Amino acid sequence: MTKLAIFASGNGSNFEVLARAINQLDFPATLEFLFCDKREAYALKRAENLGVTSFAFELKEFPDKASYEAAIIKLLERHEIDLILLAGYMKIVGGTLLSRYDGKIINIHPALLPDFKGAHAINDAFAAGVNQTGVTVHYVDSGVDTGQIIAQEVVAIKTNDTLETLEAKIHQVEHQLYPKVVRNLIGGEKSETCVN
Ligand code: GAR
Repeated sequence: MTKLAIFASGNGSNFEVLARAINQLDFPATLEFLFCDKREAYALKRAENLGVTSFAFELKEFPDKASYEAAIIKLLERHEIDLILLAGYMKIVGGTLLSRYDGKIINIHPALLPDFKGAHAINDAFAAGVNQTGVTVHYVDSGVDTGQIIAQEVVAIKTNDTLETLEAKIHQVEHQLYPKVVRNLIGGEKSETCVN
């Protein structure tokens, strides 16, 4: 059985939908823990409510990023984690963690990569005035939002959309797409890159 860890930094809505999906009896994986790089992340409260084990520590509590990531690796190894799901984890994964878990870290990004990389993708797409954006699930590599794309889904931006309605639409798509893609990946099915 594949062992999963989820990393989040803030609200944790994607963490929650993933946790609920993974906890279903027929899901071919177990969720071992949530890791947060922010001790006050609301995702930790969600984990508590769902009965999911969680850990939190912050980069500033370590002398450098390498030792911070070494502590994360210890946690991952202790729980024999096979796959890491970034779900609103707003730190760039550094070389220490990446070299140990290369090809085993997946991220969800709220835009159609390679467009609108970075931490403000929804705002950036809205401000750009484009008529479509979307959601991308991809492998993490040493670049920022540059790893191999696993799946994408388009979200239209209508003339009457506000930033708030667009955010809501993106999150709704994320919440459906991420569990589905993870299930397909673990189940060995090829996930279709569906841009429609
Ligand atoms: C999500 O929209 C996720 O795609 C985004 O942060 C949000 C977290 O929401 N991630 C990035 O922008 C990564 N570059 P959540 O905490 O409610 O899941």
